[in-house]
Amino acid sequence: MTHGAESTPGRRTLLGAAVLGSAALGMAAAPGAHAAERAAGDVRAPGERHGGGHGSGYRSLPVPTVIAHRGASGYRPEHTLGSYQLALDMGAHVVEQDLVPTKDGHLVCRHENDITGTTDVASRPEFASRRTTKSVDGTAITGWFTEDFTLAELKTLRAKERIPASRQENTVYDGRWTIPTFEEVLRWADAEGRRRGRPVWLHVETKHPTYFRGIGLGLEERLAKLLRRHGRHRAHSPVFLQSFEPTSIERLAKLVDSPRVVLLSGANTRPWDFVQSGDPRTVADLVTPQGLKWIASYAQGIGPTLDLIVPRDANGRLGTPTTLVRDAHARGLILHPYTMRNENSFLPADFRRGTDPNAYGDVFGAFKVYFEQGIDGIFTDNPDTGLLARADFVDG
Ligand code: G3P
Ligand code: CA
Repeated sequence: MTHGAESTPGRRTLLGAAVLGSAALGMAAAPGAHAAERAAGDVRAPGERHGGGHGSGYRSLPVPTVIAHRGASGYRPEHTLGSYQLALDMGAHVVEQDLVPTKDGHLVCRHENDITGTTDVASRPEFASRRTTKSVDGTAITGWFTEDFTLAELKTLRAKERIPASRQENTVYDGRWTIPTFEEVLRWADAEGRRRGRPVWLHVETKHPTYFRGIGLGLEERLAKLLRRHGRHRAHSPVFLQSFEPTSIERLAKLVDSPRVVLLSGANTRPWDFVQSGDPRTVADLVTPQGLKWIASYAQGIGPTLDLIVPRDANGRLGTPTTLVRDAHARGLILHPYTMRNENSFLPADFRRGTDPNAYGDVFGAFKVYFEQGIDGIFTDNPDTGLLARADFVDG
């Protein structure tokens, strides 16, 4: 399965002003405390479902919810405490973590188990012999892998920017932070929640769960144990659990009551657990009314790629929206699509400005299109921009 394409980006000129603006938004983001949220309820028919501060648990979150993708990864090396802190300080409603295990079974926050591109491991002679090639979800990858390191060893590494050619400004933070464990993130979230007087919401993804179970490092039980320890195992707990593999979500549903989201990649892809078990269904099957009904039997939401909501043509231009938002809502599922990024290279062609792939495009225009579809939230590398776009949308 392919998803979460990693490439380009670049310009930070909006950051200063945007941080100031969104800090104010962040202070006002407590459920039910801000006119914008009441307005969000007006727009989104509060009480019918997720939104507007009119429910409890995830239904109390502002809609559309701004989810900081890997933290404020547009401005800091992803999945670091620095990236998470900036996202929270900007006012993001939810902060995302991707989880993979260490050799000794600790859960750490990385987008891939291959840490070649996001740490300084390649420059560490003591770990040179750990470089290897392995097949992960059917793809041969050469590099250094978290499951070959103890936590103590991983903690000697330093995080760095994934796409330095595109996000050059982020490289000034290279080496500043270590790889966080999920337990450290839970402690950070608990402390920040106490300090702010409201919970810090997390959105936690199990990465390659079938692969890791196959090598004796099952993710779900370890995750459930930590969620219980930090009181985030209940239906109203401030956390979403997410995975591209439906069986991981089904397994989590048996372990905890925390709200769950099934991620959906391109229509022609097949979740890796389906490939392994011989289940012939593709994502196209899962977004049918029947497929959505099945998902709703064990999850509260879906996290589709934005292209499943508004497809792009061969030139990258937006086409006619699908019925996915309506169909999912009809089955009680919320939608948290991914991923909005400010750089031209990631935007629909309709909203690119100029020819520099790393320059920022008309990101507010793009956010507006997606918000108008009725989505419940959105993952973004640029939570400050997302919050301003949300305010534009909600306040009119
Ligand atoms: O989990 C939502 C979004 O993050 C999915 O894409 O590949 O960035 O984890 P990815
Ligand atoms: Ca993710």
